[in-house]
Amino acid sequence: MYIVMLSIHGLVRSENLELGRDADTGGQVQYVIELLKALGNHPEVERVDLMTRQIIDQNIDDSYAELVEPVNEKANIIRIPCGPNRYLRKESLWPHLDMFTDNVVKHINYVNKIPSVIHGHYADAGYVGSDIARLLGVPFFFTGHSLGRQKKARLLDHGSTLESLERNYNISTRIEAEEKALDLADKVITSTQQEIEEQYSIYDNYRPESMQVIPPGIDLDRFHPSDVDEITYPYKDEIDKFLNDPSKKMILCITRPDENKNPTGLLEAYGENEELQELANLVFLIGNREDISEMKRSKRVILKEMLIKIDKYDLYGKVAIPKKNKPEDIPWVYRLTRRRKGVAVSPSIQESFGITMLEASATGVPIVATENGGPKDIVEHCKNGFLIDPHDKDDIANKILKLLKDEELWKRFSSRSIEGVKKHYTWEGHVKKYIKEIKEVNRDYIQDETYYPSTLQNLSFDRILISDIDDTLLGDEEALEEFLNYMRDVSSSVCFGIASGRTLESTKEAIKEWDLPVPDIIITSVGTEIYYHSGFVPDNSWARHIDYKWEPNKIRKLFEPLDGIEMQPEENQREFKLSFYLEDEKAPSTDKLMQILRKHDISSKLVSSHENLLDIIPIRASKGQAIRHVSMKWDIEPEQILVCGDSGNDEDMLKGNTLGTIVNNYSKELEDLKGHPRVYFAKESYARGIIEGIRHYNFFNEITIPGE
Ligand code: GLC
Ligand code: MG
Repeated sequence: MYIVMLSIHGLVRSENLELGRDADTGGQVQYVIELLKALGNHPEVERVDLMTRQIIDQNIDDSYAELVEPVNEKANIIRIPCGPNRYLRKESLWPHLDMFTDNVVKHINYVNKIPSVIHGHYADAGYVGSDIARLLGVPFFFTGHSLGRQKKARLLDHGSTLESLERNYNISTRIEAEEKALDLADKVITSTQQEIEEQYSIYDNYRPESMQVIPPGIDLDRFHPSDVDEITYPYKDEIDKFLNDPSKKMILCITRPDENKNPTGLLEAYGENEELQELANLVFLIGNREDISEMKRSKRVILKEMLIKIDKYDLYGKVAIPKKNKPEDIPWVYRLTRRRKGVAVSPSIQESFGITMLEASATGVPIVATENGGPKDIVEHCKNGFLIDPHDKDDIANKILKLLKDEELWKRFSSRSIEGVKKHYTWEGHVKKYIKEIKEVNRDYIQDETYYPSTLQNLSFDRILISDIDDTLLGDEEALEEFLNYMRDVSSSVCFGIASGRTLESTKEAIKEWDLPVPDIIITSVGTEIYYHSGFVPDNSWARHIDYKWEPNKIRKLFEPLDGIEMQPEENQREFKLSFYLEDEKAPSTDKLMQILRKHDISSKLVSSHENLLDIIPIRASKGQAIRHVSMKWDIEPEQILVCGDSGNDEDMLKGNTLGTIVNNYSKELEDLKGHPRVYFAKESYARGIIEGIRHYNFFNEITIPGE
């Protein structure tokens, strides 16, 4: 098997993870690295690549710039250039992701093996991975790790406005990416049952039958009890220097300074309970800090609040909150907690998995954890602790007390912790189940070798110019004349193609009527049909490829009775394209229409153009996908392809590594591409805009991309 994992954001490398350095480098990074290593050790895996974003930034270690990082014999981290060199937070990556997609495809072609599965982690990789999977025709797995709809609901509850959610988190882009990923996913792999029931269930594309819980494993080489003398424990002094009586029991909370993690809730529970203070110290490991006043606002607020609470309840000598820790210190802190017959606590308002609870368990430390999210499964499996309501201070304090006061109970929970983890949470066990899931995917529509690029043709060209017809090539006769003259002098190193919403017949008519150069590539009916050369030879592999999940009759049935939407004439209805007119006022929004399809379990793509035209095509089709199909077939990279268009059905071919040009007379749907990398908005209209694009990218000579 060749497994391709995608985890795009954050700081990803195989050793010395900088977990907690920022909000993007946490549990997910650890998860994918450990999974990568475990997959690399499985006998049935031939190769596994984890693709992440390449970062070249003075403030970030050089290791994140390495293009290839071998991890073990079969596993690699591959770093993919994507947008600017510098480190970007995940919310800022969206406009660059189509480039990530194109660059991953390039890598896969280079490896020259068909992936057994593409697995996207988080919304960004869901967006990218589902595109790659439908382009290559291979299975796609998705793991959300955390989900946008839930975050949105939570933050709205806490008084955020929709506008601020868009501004700070691009929340609707994220949610749409998740919907798309869920729509295309052959399998959704989650860590807990609760995620499925409470988080994925609020998506239009909720298909529980495709969802599978496979809990993550834990690195037992790192997390296990130790018999060495407590005196020699590394890091012990960093904690004990805060404490009047270090020999008391120990309540441990390892987390981030984040409102949702609720460290102050635990601090209050402790501060208001004298008995608890008598019995135990409270130890926080809450990331690393230099100067709180210089930290990001969100973290600063939490840390300040913690210090204020320590002062308010006068917890000096009872609470430890060391400034720094290294990854190798962490196992020792759990061991110390065990030695002191303590407990590990997760007071989070919501916890997606709760990896620290697992680490504690593996070390034989009983747990007291939030009832909201993943820890529930851990407690159910291991029976080694109590669940708490994170909003209820007394509940938190009482459950901790109960565990600490009853030595027999503590002992029982401690040994169950270790046994339970060995039974339910090893990576070896995870990978075994995972490989089984890959084997169980329905392979009816999965591509075999024959689909793959055939570089056999002896191509005389090394670049392709592809233009839309209506309102791009056509629309201004003089401009067209200029363009045709301009093209006459071009050497044979440039191939000419068109990509249109028209049918083949009507495309042929346009070619004849306007005396257009005969294209070598003819993409028609909004990217659902591809023909080659003057003979208009159809690409049958494309037809087979896009037939996936295509159910036009169901769509017709659903849409025909709707108000404000009407079918276009029969000649515009094609094997892989249904087309409608939308009436301005009465028509349902495309979001609404999409929702209707999703609720009926129909996967397809909606493309709207000129505001009143709507095409519905198979999910694997589009002008952009068709171009990439040709690009792979002929082995011409997207960065050697100039694309020109004016309306909605051109949108996806304009994004990514291709050299996009939008003519000045463009229609409203393309407005959002303003500022998008490699999308040039020409000042000229119609065919003159194409000439301008050619000049902009110096396309007929040595291609250069202004600003890169
Ligand atoms: C062409 C097609 C029409 C389609 C439109 C937008 O005009 O004839 O069916 O809706 O392009 O893609
Ligand atoms: Mg057009």
